[in-house]
Amino acid sequence: MSSTKEGWGTRVGLVLAMAGNAVGLGNFLRFPVQAVNNGGGAFIIPYLVSFLVMGIPLLWIEWSIGRYGGKAGHHSPPFMFERMGKKHYWKYFAVFGIWTNLAIAAYYCYIESWTMSYVIHSLARTFDGMNQLEVANFFRNYVDITTSTTGIPYEAIIFYVLCLALNTWILSRGLSGGIELTAKIGMPILILFGIFLAIRGLTLGTSGASIAHPDASAWAGIDFLWNPQFDSLSNPKVWLAAAGQIFFTLSVGMGTIHCYAAYVKSRDDIALNAMSAGWTNEFVEVVLGSLIVIPIAAGYLGLDWVKENAGFGMAFQTMPFLFENWGPMLAATAGLFWFGLLFFAGITSSLAMGTPWMAFMQDEFKWTRNKSAWSFGLFVLILGLPTVFFYNFGVFDEYDYWAGTVSLVIFALVESILFSWIFGIKNGWNELTTGADIKVPNIYKFIIKYITPAFLFFVFIGSIFSPKKGNWSAALSSLMSGNGWELDNGSIIKQFFNAGLHEQIAAATDPAVISHLELQLLFTNGARILLIATFLLIAYMVYRASANRLKKEK
Ligand code: ALA
Repeated sequence: MSSTKEGWGTRVGLVLAMAGNAVGLGNFLRFPVQAVNNGGGAFIIPYLVSFLVMGIPLLWIEWSIGRYGGKAGHHSPPFMFERMGKKHYWKYFAVFGIWTNLAIAAYYCYIESWTMSYVIHSLARTFDGMNQLEVANFFRNYVDITTSTTGIPYEAIIFYVLCLALNTWILSRGLSGGIELTAKIGMPILILFGIFLAIRGLTLGTSGASIAHPDASAWAGIDFLWNPQFDSLSNPKVWLAAAGQIFFTLSVGMGTIHCYAAYVKSRDDIALNAMSAGWTNEFVEVVLGSLIVIPIAAGYLGLDWVKENAGFGMAFQTMPFLFENWGPMLAATAGLFWFGLLFFAGITSSLAMGTPWMAFMQDEFKWTRNKSAWSFGLFVLILGLPTVFFYNFGVFDEYDYWAGTVSLVIFALVESILFSWIFGIKNGWNELTTGADIKVPNIYKFIIKYITPAFLFFVFIGSIFSPKKGNWSAALSSLMSGNGWELDNGSIIKQFFNAGLHEQIAAATDPAVISHLELQLLFTNGARILLIATFLLIAYMVYRASANRLKKEK
């Protein structure tokens, strides 16, 4: 995506591509689960506050950094950061802005590939006549690549490679002919499919109640999510979950928004464009995302079942079974719509993940678009195959934790400080408002400068020191009474030491379970080595690029 040849075709295309970057699997798979696990209505207020004081400012910061960098011919984060920070070391913080995308794309494309395969299985009526357990087992067998219930050997690998090849091919077609075109086709289809399924969820009412689940009601699910509970405002655990969801769903803290914005013309609007893309994402997440899985699952299985089983697997292990209740025609259509929707949501996000690497290689090493696209595909394949082969051994989760969670917060914290305190809020505000088609509320000058970095700092510290079971008041009183601070296994410190896994190994008695857990430990550490090696490689390439630049300047 070299500076001279690439550009967005139309403004609508740019906003759809940015919205497509944000709208992803997280909107439909992660949001409902986070909401249910964090008390339903208790989640909504911290979520919306996080959107206003962290999400919107980060969108504006990233669009501004991107367009500012693009003016000087920088289309990926490292030299954008250096230009703003005026010190050489800033570019190394931006290594996260390339690395995160490679690592997330590695496992994200795997989920995306499931949706491709499930579209085909829905149309082929594979789930016809299966009971709930059989549908769940179908998924288990699918990801356990040594078995095959579908007759296609290594189906998971085949679909993964196909999905990655499709992503790479689209990327090789460039910004307007590849990414923008996909967003223009995919986003409207996704929204239409979503509206269809949401209406079905809303009209299900109590009609799904059965002898096994006499209390089932779609309305109970909707009620649970939409009944705000103000006492959640004092619960840091819910705040952390809400902030984490805002990061993931808006694709902030990744480096992709900078990259897309780098191709915006220097005097074109970014303030309104950022809002259009951001609010489109919120509509899809909060309205469509909450009106599909939860109401439909609660409508057939009851709210208690949903609360107990809320998890990622609901989308693949439960939905096809629930659709079967709608009769053969509607079941196939719903399967096509649901997995098709997920596919378009996924691909418009994974394409964005390819751009920081591609732009970096094109800008700094003069690689062609084709070469940089296919090298991205190859890199992701190398990083991704372990997530496919060892899905049941924690590799997938390890990538998601470090790249899809921790790294986003670090990158966002650094860029918010860079923007407001190093580049300076005056310059930053100037950049944001140049060419703006809306009046950016002045209050945001204060929010961007003080509230956003402070908020991010607390999120980061909170994640490092998360107390046991997220119970902050118990941890505080324990600290006050001299009994120390007991960390949760999900805290960054405990995760770093694999504390949870070690505890499980110590507690296990069954030799088969012990050996599985020990393998999990091995693969988890292997995944880390791979991630660290990738990070170091990118840092080295940034160093080489910088040395090349210095040589040219002399
Ligand atoms: N923003 C993308 C999602 O929500 C990554 O899935």
